[in-house]
Amino acid sequence: MINSRGSQPESIFRKDSKRFTINRFRKAKQDNFNNMPPPYPNGWYGIVESCRLNISEAIFISCLGEKLVVYRTQNNKVFIVNAYCPHLGANFGVGGRVDGDCIVCPFHQWSFRGSDGKCIKIPYSTSVPRSAKVKSWISQETNGIIFVWYHIDSTEKPWSFPMTISDNQFIYHGRNEFYVNCHIREIPENGADTIHFNSIHNECFMSGNITKSSKFFQYCHHKWNSSWMPSKNAKHLAEIKLSHSLQIFGRFNCFRMDISGLQIGPSYVTMEINSSIFGTFRICQTITPIEPLLQKVIHRFYGPRWLAPFMKIFICGESIMFQRDVTIWNHKDLLPNPILAKEDTAIKQFRMWYSQFYTCNSKSLTDETTNHW
Ligand code: FES
Ligand SMILES: [Fe+2]
Repeated sequence: MINSRGSQPESIFRKDSKRFTINRFRKAKQDNFNNMPPPYPNGWYGIVESCRLNISEAIFISCLGEKLVVYRTQNNKVFIVNAYCPHLGANFGVGGRVDGDCIVCPFHQWSFRGSDGKCIKIPYSTSVPRSAKVKSWISQETNGIIFVWYHIDSTEKPWSFPMTISDNQFIYHGRNEFYVNCHIREIPENGADTIHFNSIHNECFMSGNITKSSKFFQYCHHKWNSSWMPSKNAKHLAEIKLSHSLQIFGRFNCFRMDISGLQIGPSYVTMEINSSIFGTFRICQTITPIEPLLQKVIHRFYGPRWLAPFMKIFICGESIMFQRDVTIWNHKDLLPNPILAKEDTAIKQFRMWYSQFYTCNSKSLTDETTNHW
């Protein structure tokens, strides 16, 4: 990946310094724990891409401060339950077997039903203890992603998804993936930070290392206009409008794009892009908190079949652009009371909107961190 100045790649996973770098970031951010919001807001979270879970397969996922097993039955139903068996603690995701709607523990073969987590069979006993149960999580599979409903107050009903990303017209073209060392709220706040687009995303994505020999791209700039506002349709939705043009020699505008983004809860975004040359295509973004301050971000790209060769270039460009944000997030501080200019007011509005995803029971960053580190 190329950074905003087009020089050395910025990655927290650079081989030689991975551990050192992560620890250094963590330590710096720990100083500010008391000022940060809880790390796991309530809502739907994409935790596994559908293509990574075959029929009769079970996988272990650690995220949101939980240890989960996700499995797919022979009838293509997906269930998510807590990963550790209440008998003697084996991990269902490591050697567990899928049998009907149940996950069978790899250790002594107890069977747990996915719909309610109850143990329904112990192969060597005629009676099943009443308390033999694991937590079963509400889940949904849509747009090629398996989502889990995470809510600290278990009585809250999940909301529905407003948009189907792929259909006969829009097929899957590819993906990218990033690990970001920051609080989850920093990432969606980017959409409300309307000023940053022309600040860090203006330099042409082709002007970095890969095209060092060509000076031409230094005369190309991305120009952006953007707005962010809560949606009138539902309170957990927010709308991002973005218009883009590629400007050459500071005056010729070419390759225009109008982007309509929908922020769905704290961690999921769908975007529809109408471009002057390539027509319409779509992106969805999921953020999964792997640890309190470590986010896994995935972008999946969809468009008409004929767009395949161009989508490769688009995915590359989007990856370069997003890496510029990642560099900022990896190193920045989260200020609870930032000093804002009048043009920054959407950030304030965004933070108020985002606060709906917490309740008084949401666990603080300090509590969650003590559990993990
Ligand atoms: S540990 Fe799972 S059945 Fe014994
Ligand atoms: Fe950005």
